[in-house]
Amino acid sequence: MPTDTKTATNSIVDALNWRYATKKFDPSKKISASDWQVLEDALQLSPSSYGLQPYKFIVVTDQKVKDELVAACWNQAQVAQCSHFVIFARKNEVNAETVDQYIDLIAKTRDVPVDALKPVHDMVNGFVTGATPEKLAEWTARQTYIALGNLMTVAATLEIDNCPMEGIVVPEIDRILKLNEKGCTSVVACALGYRAADDKYATLTKVRFPKDELFINI
Ligand SMILES: Cc1cc2nc3c(=O)[nH]c(=O)nc-3n(C[C@H](O)[C@H](O)[C@H](O)COP(=O)(O)O)c2cc1C
Repeated sequence: MPTDTKTATNSIVDALNWRYATKKFDPSKKISASDWQVLEDALQLSPSSYGLQPYKFIVVTDQKVKDELVAACWNQAQVAQCSHFVIFARKNEVNAETVDQYIDLIAKTRDVPVDALKPVHDMVNGFVTGATPEKLAEWTARQTYIALGNLMTVAATLEIDNCPMEGIVVPEIDRILKLNEKGCTSVVACALGYRAADDKYATLTKVRFPKDELFINI
């Protein structure tokens, strides 16, 4: 057991060192359907506050749409070159009805009566209905970043390259993808695929603060 654990730990750290914010993808290389299923699972299984999952993942593989999105992403070429471009969007409406739907899902999934979930319902509902729209928007946006982190880590373990992107023009992305009609607003994005052989960023040494600056051990 300890040997297996060590091997697993090493391979995870190796994967995290291997990954980098890819600036140039090889457009001829596409993520296979089976690998994409794993990445979808990683997104679906992402944890969120109260488990409410107040987001949508928009996955763009259509080349025309990816090309159109480049201008809305600070002209970053990765958007067109990558295999899958994922936009993390926050749901615009998070309210008492959303909470009811979620509680119903828990009841069905775990085969428990809705009544038994009243304490959970009241807690989540209290938070959601007590928050200002600004606070809710900020809170839902934060949840998307957890999914982004999960996606990048899992992709790295599969040797799938990725580039997280905040360099997006939210209203432009929303307009092109008609996100308002879909009830959501873009927050952040991630390009995924395979690095181009000549991406010079691939060999740069990672720049990270030393652990004694990053960690406060109490
Ligand atoms: C939330 C977030 C947004 C980012 N936005 C961009 C971006 O728009 N374009 C880009 O090329 N890199 C972007 N990056 C990549 C960072 O610059 C990069 O992760 C950081 O410098 C560390 O380098 P590494 O990922 O190669 O280890 C972003 C990273 C994060 C986490």
